[in-house]
Amino acid sequence: MNEKYRILSNDIKMPSIGFGTYKSGNDEDTAKIVKYALEVGYRQIDTASFYGNEVGVGKGIKESGIKREEIFLVTKLWNDDHGYENTIKAFNKSLEKLQVNYIDLYLIHWPNKLNAETWRAFEYLYKIGKVKAIGVCNFKIGHLEELKATAEIMPMVNQVEIHPLSSKDTLLDYCNKNNIQLVAWSPIMRGKVFSNESIIALAEKYKKTIAEIILRWHIQRGVIPIPKSSNEERIKENIDIFDFEISREDMNIIDSLNEGDNVSVSGVPENTNYLDF
Ligand SMILES: NC(=O)c1ccc[n+]([C@@H]2O[C@H](COP(=O)([O-])OP(=O)(O)OC[C@H]3O[C@@H](n4cnc5c(N)ncnc54)[C@H](OP(=O)(O)O)[C@@H]3O)[C@@H](O)[C@H]2O)c1
Repeated sequence: MNEKYRILSNDIKMPSIGFGTYKSGNDEDTAKIVKYALEVGYRQIDTASFYGNEVGVGKGIKESGIKREEIFLVTKLWNDDHGYENTIKAFNKSLEKLQVNYIDLYLIHWPNKLNAETWRAFEYLYKIGKVKAIGVCNFKIGHLEELKATAEIMPMVNQVEIHPLSSKDTLLDYCNKNNIQLVAWSPIMRGKVFSNESIIALAEKYKKTIAEIILRWHIQRGVIPIPKSSNEERIKENIDIFDFEISREDMNIIDSLNEGDNVSVSGVPENTNYLDF
């Protein structure tokens, strides 16, 4: 098996690590780091209409000179844009800002009372080939089960906050059984993971940085991490994780740091009120 890709339920190849772009700065800054990330080997770029940086991401992709079809581009539908017609409109706006004519993976950013209707628009965009795969973010098992009742096509991906302090084992198990690929946002806990003693010891043992240990842990669990950095050295460091393997015993050490599903480094957007599952 090629570790650099995961195969989604519809047989689409998704790079096993992505480049996050939340808080990537203005269009120029964003274009610069996206171009750099592509140059050093990232092939998945994660953005969202909410990040306000789709123009910069599109510019970075163009300036990289890398063929569109070699890049796996992810963007998301924001909370204010739910509903069938609104989704189509928001999607077209994203295409325009990104200066592309298709998206590889389109995601619902947060669960919403209008999930079912929005999802019909996602299925339509998928069927007409404007998106290669469709998915959701921040869906708990209850949200996925609810969607199952009305969906014709189930999400291929669920992107949620996952890191050693919140490993979401039950959700991972559910997603594996239902052929839904999990993607980890805040995979290195926005840098907070760096003070943990056990992880520091593992970094010394494997002669890797702490970020690399954590990112490798995600890969070995079959979860796709999408670390963000605006620093060239760290952008490069974060993708240098395919030349070593963490032993089962050491994976268990990281697994044991889990403090539960509700541990979060981010907080939840205020207008998200449909998270009660
Ligand atoms: N679907 C959702 O609801 C959702 C929510 C949040 C995020 N996301 C996506 O997930 C991506 C990643 O999550 P995130 O940005 O919240 O957190 P993250 O990737 O866990 O952490 C990013 C932070 O860690 C620092 N950092 C990066 N690499 C480092 C390294 N090797 N050593 C030390 N520090 C390092 C970065 O600073 P520097 O920039 O200075 O390197 C930045 O402050 C986002 O960018 C976004 O694309 C999705």
